[in-house]
Amino acid sequence: MKAVVLISGSGSNLQSLIDNANDIDLEIEAVISNKETAYGLQRAQQANIPTQVIDHKQFSTREDFDQKLGQIIDQYKPEIIILAGFMRILTSEFTQKYVGKMLNIHPSLLPKFQGLNTHQRAIDAKEIEHGVSVHFVTAELDGGPIIAQSRVNVLANDDATSLAKRVLAEEHKLFPEVVHWFTQGRLVLEGGHATLDGRIL
Ligand code: GRF
Repeated sequence: MKAVVLISGSGSNLQSLIDNANDIDLEIEAVISNKETAYGLQRAQQANIPTQVIDHKQFSTREDFDQKLGQIIDQYKPEIIILAGFMRILTSEFTQKYVGKMLNIHPSLLPKFQGLNTHQRAIDAKEIEHGVSVHFVTAELDGGPIIAQSRVNVLANDDATSLAKRVLAEEHKLFPEVVHWFTQGRLVLEGGHATLDGRIL
């Protein structure tokens, strides 16, 4: 299945998708970043995947940026759009256009800790468990139907860095698995719910 992956940073989740691409029937047609310095662009180039940079600072409105982003995505005719650490808030027009075919990974057990600094916030809230969620993207930031989660224990001596590292290891396993459900046609957004093999998740 043809995919476009959107990133803003290190791209370790992108790397796990690249490494598993054959097994999960994924053809990454392009990697798009809003940041020129994103290390994930180098990962893509090493895997011979075309890259594009669209610097959000060059656009005066969110709508203009999203429109350009949509134009570039559409050139590749993807059947799935994967947000892998893409740190931009998207307009509802944009999310609506790709509803049901856009997935995001978020480093918390949603609906807890939407937004940024999730690891520190989980520690500050004295959570005993933390983790990662993969969800369909809708207009609500980090609020679309949840598909799957992985959990880790929060340890007494954890700081945000140590916790993020363990969560990231889970991300790298969970994301390719969920993407595979989608490429197999088993994962569908139906009536506002994520469904796997016809069952609501
Ligand atoms: C991950 O923690 C992901 O859940 C979040 O941003 C981070 C991206 O990391 N959305 P990487 O760029 O994939 O290494």
